[in-house]
Amino acid sequence: MSLDAQKRLAAEYAAGLITDGMTVGLGSGTTAEMAVETLGLRFRDGIRFVGVPTSGRTAEIAQSFGIPLRRLDERSFLDIYVDGADEVDPQLNLVKGRGGALMREKLVASAARRFVVIVDETKRVERLGELAPIPVEVVTFGWPTTRHRLELLGLTCELRGGSETYTTSNGNYILDCHASGPIDLADEIVAQTIKLQTGVVDHGLFLRMADLVVVGTSAGTVEVLEAQRERSTTLS
Ligand code: 5RP
Repeated sequence: MSLDAQKRLAAEYAAGLITDGMTVGLGSGTTAEMAVETLGLRFRDGIRFVGVPTSGRTAEIAQSFGIPLRRLDERSFLDIYVDGADEVDPQLNLVKGRGGALMREKLVASAARRFVVIVDETKRVERLGELAPIPVEVVTFGWPTTRHRLELLGLTCELRGGSETYTTSNGNYILDCHASGPIDLADEIVAQTIKLQTGVVDHGLFLRMADLVVVGTSAGTVEVLEAQRERSTTLS
């Protein structure tokens, strides 16, 4: 089964979790877009819910199906948030942000009662950082200084986009960082230390945040992994 078909299986499973009256966080990226399309079809069939998009592209797709949208600040919490990820470890810790929307995604995830992650099976890793760099969103002013601070922590970072620098929807840069030593990226203290550096806005480590991970497999099945612990952050 192709990667797209695996993603679609996971997306369709997650879209099936949405019921009438919910406020639904809508993620970004190719897998999340499949979920938004499936939700769009369910909306056309009569189920009613409100979406909170994490990117302009996601908002456009949702609007093309007539899904009503809200900004995060108009509701204090969301019932559910459905989004993809770049990596998932055995404890359901995630790396996100290859699409550059990590800051909005983390805000929406932390405001949701339930965070459902949808991936194809290639995204499963033993250790975070195995496949994907960790994106760190930094303010543009003095970014080389911020990179230096991150490198002192044991990361090797590259400015995303190089000479055609990528800018996030918040007007910031992304540094794509690899662990250069035995640094454990699933360690809460490591994640907090990265975030504490002046100049850092946020990073793509989503630790202890996912409640459910839905994996579309090459065998054509769906594996559903449930977190065996409390969420680290939830508003209620
Ligand atoms: C965007 C994200 C995406 O969810 C993540 O990059 C996965 O994308 P895709 O479903 O296209 O593989 O975090 O910031």
